Amino acid sequence: MANKTWNVLVTGGAGYIGSHTVLELLEADFKVVVIDNLSNAYKGDNDVKPECLLRIEKLTNKQIAFIPCDITDINELRDVFKKNKYDCVIHFAALKAVGESCDKPLEYYKTNVNGTLNLLEVMKEYNVKHLIYSSSATVYGVPEKLPLVENMKIGNCTNPYGKTKYMVEEILKDLCTSDKEWSVISLRYFNPVGAHPSGQIGEDPNGIPNNLMPYIAQVSVGKREVLNVYGNDYDTVDGTGVRDYIHIVDLATGHVKAMIYQKTQNPTGFKAINLGTGKGYSVLEVIHAFEKASGQKIPYKVVERRAGDIAASYADAGTANKELGWQATKNIDDMCADTWKWQQNNPNGYKS
Ligand SMILES: NC(=O)c1ccc[n+]([C@@H]2O[C@H](COP(=O)([O-])OP(=O)(O)OC[C@H]3O[C@@H](n4cnc5c(N)ncnc54)[C@H](O)[C@@H]3O)[C@@H](O)[C@H]2O)c1
Repeated sequence: MANKTWNVLVTGGAGYIGSHTVLELLEADFKVVVIDNLSNAYKGDNDVKPECLLRIEKLTNKQIAFIPCDITDINELRDVFKKNKYDCVIHFAALKAVGESCDKPLEYYKTNVNGTLNLLEVMKEYNVKHLIYSSSATVYGVPEKLPLVENMKIGNCTNPYGKTKYMVEEILKDLCTSDKEWSVISLRYFNPVGAHPSGQIGEDPNGIPNNLMPYIAQVSVGKREVLNVYGNDYDTVDGTGVRDYIHIVDLATGHVKAMIYQKTQNPTGFKAINLGTGKGYSVLEVIHAFEKASGQKIPYKVVERRAGDIAASYADAGTANKELGWQATKNIDDMCADTWKWQQNNPNGYKS
């Protein structure tokens, strides 16, 4: 098994993090099958594959199998497993907007929790027991101490989205306790930003962006007038919120490292691993870094704090380094430069 390449099923592989990970998996010679219901990915004119996967095929000169599938339908998932044999699943498919999860909690529980239960059920039926799961720093809730370390208490989440990520981690732990053949790595992402350095794939949010970097990028090209900075009276370096931003390519290679670890070391059980740089930047620091990378002024105004936001969050990234041999290689200037390149090349995302 160690010398044979793995066939990897990537759920949500047409999304932001999934697409960048698919590219890195292909570069590392893994075979990839993507499933996605395209609820948050641009389909494009091609009836066979979404635009981002076509671009990845061009960049890598390799093929990606794409199967339209909604993970909330267990029979659609069974068909996916009937068609191919998989060695491992990377599970990105989920709904991810914190604000929306407060308005539509049932949709979030249905996709993120029920959808994952369906996936686990079918993996079990087909005896596929390697899983890499997309978790989030949000599982730590309001941090008691920084940096955030994997063995700290989790679950004090303030919104349904965060609760779904926490609940799934608990489900995965129980599963691994009940059956020692499972190998599950739950990657807790901090704040993924940036785009592939080619400028060909990147984040393509529907409607108004929820996150800072795509918002700044849209302001920089005149798509939005002004950036709202939510609060400048936090106990941080300049009063604005501090987050651990991580370049999307570093995040993607973290998944490849996790899979190589599963393939070569054969670990069993549940393991949670932070993927962050270990360093936090304030909103104002990010704005200034983006201005430097783009040469554009970013108009902003300070408004009220947003409910549920915390002052600061950053990772202890030591476990990823020790266990996976991974560490972030790109800094805030790279993150801004690559976001700027993607935004300039694709002012309307994949529709450009
Ligand atoms: N982007 C972040 O800041 C961030 C941070 C922490 C964790 N995460 C997690 O990482 C994962 C990927 O996030 P992303 O930023 O790439 O989001 P994304 O929305 O770009 O990608 C998710 C993909 O899943 C697909 N999808 C949604 N519901 C589906 C369903 N029922 N069946 C099949 N496919 C479905 C969407 O069409 C989309 O292509 C998610 O699990 C998210 O919760 C993201």
